[in-house]
Amino acid sequence: MRGRAGDSTLRTGDAGPGRSRTRPDRRQGLGAAIVLRSLREIARDAWWDWRLGIRTLASTPSVGGGAKPGEPTGYDVLFAVAAAFGPGDVVYDVGCGRGRACAVFARTGARVIGVEVSPRAAAAARRNRIAVIEGDARTVDYADATALWMFNPFGPETLRTVLRRAHAPRVVYYSGTETHADVFLAEGYALHRRQAAGDSEHTVYHYARAADSFHPI
Ligand SMILES: C[S@@+](CC[C@H](N)C(=O)[O-])C[C@H]1O[C@@H](n2cnc3c(N)ncnc32)[C@H](O)[C@@H]1O
Repeated sequence: MRGRAGDSTLRTGDAGPGRSRTRPDRRQGLGAAIVLRSLREIARDAWWDWRLGIRTLASTPSVGGGAKPGEPTGYDVLFAVAAAFGPGDVVYDVGCGRGRACAVFARTGARVIGVEVSPRAAAAARRNRIAVIEGDARTVDYADATALWMFNPFGPETLRTVLRRAHAPRVVYYSGTETHADVFLAEGYALHRRQAAGDSEHTVYHYARAADSFHPI
């Protein structure tokens, strides 16, 4: 039975028996798909932790000084990005959490150093046999860096300070909607490649200071 305008028993969009039955079903289907995807991702990440002999599944706790709490990057994204690095590279993972990205990138032959402000996360990274500089990314000496990796760990002001300080030839930046493209541009970086990786809401941005310093991937 169709409702009249003003009929309080039928809500907007509740146009009849057919639609009112399918909408909740569709929502349930979507919910189940999301849960299944998350479970698959957790299982995949747990399996790679086991393969690499490290523990990175927990998220990083939030600490003072503007640091964001952080989930580690999914292994599928990290393996896709790893092709950007190789022997001869010195890669700083700025905001390394428990060191999952460091462990993956080290497999390319690059020297990898994590920078982490959270003492708990830095200690966990050390237990994962990662070389870690514990402290604020704004105070670290990046003199030997050929590349930085960041999973959007902080806001634009800290990003600007780190880019200036590190002066690294290449930056690989993984982010959702907050891309801070204006900061990269202002600091002399050109976007060389956008790489779809992980879910549809996140993108990997490959920046370089100069065309000749770009490591082709
Ligand atoms: C999203 S997690 C990224 C973990 C890792 N890079 C990855 O790709 O899996 C971001 C990390 O950045 C750290 N962080 C945030 N602000 C920081 C700062 N100013 N200096 C150093 N680390 C910072 C957080 O504590 C957190 O562990």
